[in-house]
Amino acid sequence: MDKKIWRAVPVKLVKLLRFIGEMAEVKGYSAFIVGGFVRDRILGVKNFDVDIVIEGDAIDFSRSFADEVKGALVVHHKFGTATVVMPWSIAKDKRFKVDIATARKERYRAPAALPDVEFSSLRDDLYRRDFTINAMAIALSRDSFGQFIDFFDGLGDIRKGVVSVLHKGSFIDDPTRIFRAVRFEQRFGFRIDKHTEDLIKTAIDEDMFGRTERQRIRDELILMLNERDPVKAVMRMHQLDELRFIHPNIKIGKDLKRLFKSIKERYDWYMTSPLKAKNLDLWLIYLMALLSDLDKKGVRDLCGKFVFSRNDKIRLISCKDSCDKILQFLSRKKHLRPSEIYKRLRPLSCETILFMMAKAKGDKVKARIGDFLMKSKDVKIKAKGMDLKRMGLKEGPAIGRILGQILCAKIDGEVSSKSEELTYARRLL
Ligand code: CTP
Repeated sequence: MDKKIWRAVPVKLVKLLRFIGEMAEVKGYSAFIVGGFVRDRILGVKNFDVDIVIEGDAIDFSRSFADEVKGALVVHHKFGTATVVMPWSIAKDKRFKVDIATARKERYRAPAALPDVEFSSLRDDLYRRDFTINAMAIALSRDSFGQFIDFFDGLGDIRKGVVSVLHKGSFIDDPTRIFRAVRFEQRFGFRIDKHTEDLIKTAIDEDMFGRTERQRIRDELILMLNERDPVKAVMRMHQLDELRFIHPNIKIGKDLKRLFKSIKERYDWYMTSPLKAKNLDLWLIYLMALLSDLDKKGVRDLCGKFVFSRNDKIRLISCKDSCDKILQFLSRKKHLRPSEIYKRLRPLSCETILFMMAKAKGDKVKARIGDFLMKSKDVKIKAKGMDLKRMGLKEGPAIGRILGQILCAKIDGEVSSKSEELTYARRLL
């Protein structure tokens, strides 16, 4: 294991880890890499999220480290952790960052509360973690660089394909781990072991979610919907009767599977098109599907309860407001001018439009939405308000109205060049 551990890890990263190990030693500390990175090394999954644990003072270490590598330092004193953002990147254009924590033993003041932190050793630190598969480490000190550390047989559980807690209080300490258990189980095609599943059921019966910060549940829900194949995790959550904590009216029928699949197809189609939007939230489109059976009040309550951002809330509610109405409009048999479709779809978020496209029953509706996205959405006119003023039009709402009409004519293919736009405007006037 030890020899293979750095296989396919970029040389730049291995060098950095070596440097971290040496620098910790100079300060009289020991450094280890822990968590998902170690798990994914074993599974052969690409992962550049580096979590470092320091036996010693992580904040003191991080200050010196950030100085040395000319990185930006963010310190979280309360948790004894820091993040150092490097001036360079490994994956795409995202700056590479390293999270650094003091090895700790946590005591939870009350179930589901945030922990009090006490400095401690690596073993204690790993023991407080969620699952055995996430509680392995790699040593970074000079004489043991790359040594694989596995106190709780995480490797054995990976080989068996099992998600297993380290101790029976794990879900009481942090109920969001219930989501995590399902997420890892479904992501890796593992199974939650019997003992762990029993603990999940007990935590649910004891209403542990009720005592958890709602934002943390929302974040876990988003992470789950961001998985490569989220429908599996959703189905499993349903089986464990966990979805009622999101909302009691969420219904899981056989249509949902189909809808999730269709959403992914539409999303892939759009993201490989030349007109793709930059930041499209796929998880939000899945959430729109998950909330299909809720009414507007239900969606509004859910957004408030889980403190969704204003932007997320607007997109979810406007989807609820318009989706069915617009789908009905788009399924009309009569010819619809592209500009009529434009007027309905233009105010909606791209997520809502793709959701509608996935939900649409007939090919005609899908094609109409597709045409809007590919042909009409970003059409612009060359005529300006100034041009209309020169024609004698007074400043006021009429200018906007006429420009809107020119745009519709352009979308419908009636005008193309600027002079055609202006001739059209003259006719209107
Ligand atoms: N962890 C935990 N309990 C949590 C969240 C995290 O014990 N509720 C620990 C686990 O050891 C985990 C590590 O913190 O491996 C890092 O957490 P995170 O980055 O959220 O998860 P990853 O395991 O890296 O998973 P992913 O691949 O989804 O990022």
